[in-house]
Amino acid sequence: MFCTSLFFGYLTIVTILIYFYLKKCYRYWKVKNVPYVKPKSLLFGSNLDLILHRISFQEYHATLYKELAPHRYGGYFNFQRPFLLIRDPDLVKHILSIDFQTFSVRHNDADDTEPLRLHLFNLYGDKWRVLREKLSTAFSPAKIRMMVHLMKECAQELVHVLDKSADGNTDVSISDIVARYGTDIISTCAFGYRAHTLSNPEAEFRIMTKKIVEPHFAFKFRSFLLSVSPKLCKMLKLRMFNQEAVRYFITLVDETIKYREKYGTIRNDFIDLLISVKKMEQEANMKDENREGKIDISVENLAAQCFAFFFAGYATQNLTLSTALFELARNPDIQNRLREEIDEAFDRTKGNIDYDTLNKMKYLDQVVSEAIRSYPGQPIILRQCVQDYKIPNSDVVIEKDTTVFIPRYGLNHDEEYYSDPDTFDPDHFSDEAKANRHPYTHLLFGDGPRKCIGMRFGQMHAKLALTMLLRHYEFTISPKMKLPIKYTSNVISTSIVGGIWLRNKRRSAS
Ligand code: HEM
Repeated sequence: MFCTSLFFGYLTIVTILIYFYLKKCYRYWKVKNVPYVKPKSLLFGSNLDLILHRISFQEYHATLYKELAPHRYGGYFNFQRPFLLIRDPDLVKHILSIDFQTFSVRHNDADDTEPLRLHLFNLYGDKWRVLREKLSTAFSPAKIRMMVHLMKECAQELVHVLDKSADGNTDVSISDIVARYGTDIISTCAFGYRAHTLSNPEAEFRIMTKKIVEPHFAFKFRSFLLSVSPKLCKMLKLRMFNQEAVRYFITLVDETIKYREKYGTIRNDFIDLLISVKKMEQEANMKDENREGKIDISVENLAAQCFAFFFAGYATQNLTLSTALFELARNPDIQNRLREEIDEAFDRTKGNIDYDTLNKMKYLDQVVSEAIRSYPGQPIILRQCVQDYKIPNSDVVIEKDTTVFIPRYGLNHDEEYYSDPDTFDPDHFSDEAKANRHPYTHLLFGDGPRKCIGMRFGQMHAKLALTMLLRHYEFTISPKMKLPIKYTSNVISTSIVGGIWLRNKRRSAS
């Protein structure tokens, strides 16, 4: 009896202490005199609805953006951690570009428990800087121009696969077909291997890809823990990826590199670049083993750079292409206007569509930009400050290690910058519209030194597919399509609930 009373006594004291501790945490922004969104729950901070899956990641950030209007910036609580959200485009420019030295880190949770996570997206400091410099060559216009030849083989296979349903009455899961097209492009351009998942959905490469991009329990648990406590997450050294798939991709990269080194094969893809980086590093190491700016050229680290295509490119590319097709099907006038430009390009080049042709197609560029604006795979851009930072034109000092969010979705859907922001209108990206808008309200690929390195690659992926598809088919919405569109997201990807379903009909002239 005495023990029970003692137990309940302690429990009450502990509960009261926790209560006051949490209350103190939530005073953080008030003490700093920063406007903030009040936490919705004592345990989960501002993100209760997100945890309970009542709203998507996109809706959550759009709501925070609106709730903090009209302030230039404001705070909220991710569990008990204070995050800062930036609303003012001038301030966004400071964080992404002008004051980059203070915000050079995206997040500092990269650890070597999971070698495939040590890619550009997750690295910071000198490791990031040196690698970014070396890898930039792979994404230069000259290299992408060559990779478009490899992409074209996949785009032709894409047209071929859709030929089977081209009667205008068959319901097609565009999300699935676009995901296979994306997988084929990554397999051929990044891993140096034609996986043919468009013609064979059961190909081993596709099965392994799914094991990575369709997260299992361990992945979700680690992601959850990461947002609660990055320190605990690092300490526990939890793995997030399926280990069979990890071994498969490392072995694939290892064997491809060994084969090319042995036979001197050149394919003008990403693996070729990794081989030249490896060779240069080996030569430099022979001259000076202890030099600065060394790169880890172990097979795991080289495979991690290929893996960035999955982590940073796969979902965004698939979402861009599938939602662009969806909007074209829903808006026949936009579809026809784009098709006119495509037909003109085919006639002019006698069907020889290449990098330069695609780059010159203005309306195509507007359609792709509008798809990314309307349906951003990553609704936010993340930065962490590496030292205390005084917000320009204010007295507020952000403390070192504070996480700062740039609400890409919020800015892209703000009526102040985009007329009718919820309508798909490629003229949002006409020269005139762009010239009249603050450039830091676009942010389709981020900005500053950590801007998306795969921008040209991602644009070509979508532009090539749209050109080939609209040349051959007319698209309409399938009755299987669930409207209005709702998002579902996890850390690695955002997709549309129920997927995108369309119908395609062969054009009489093609
Ligand atoms: C339509 C396709 C794509 C979109 C919309 C997109 C968008 C973005 C955005 C918004 C960022 C954050 C930029 C920032 O923090 O300022 C980013 C970063 C990044 N993206 Fe992309 N991306 C796309 C395709 C790709 C592809 C195909 C790759 C292939 C490797 C890629 C690799 C990366 C990497 C490595 C980063 C981090 C760069 C760094 O920190 O240095 N992305 N992307």
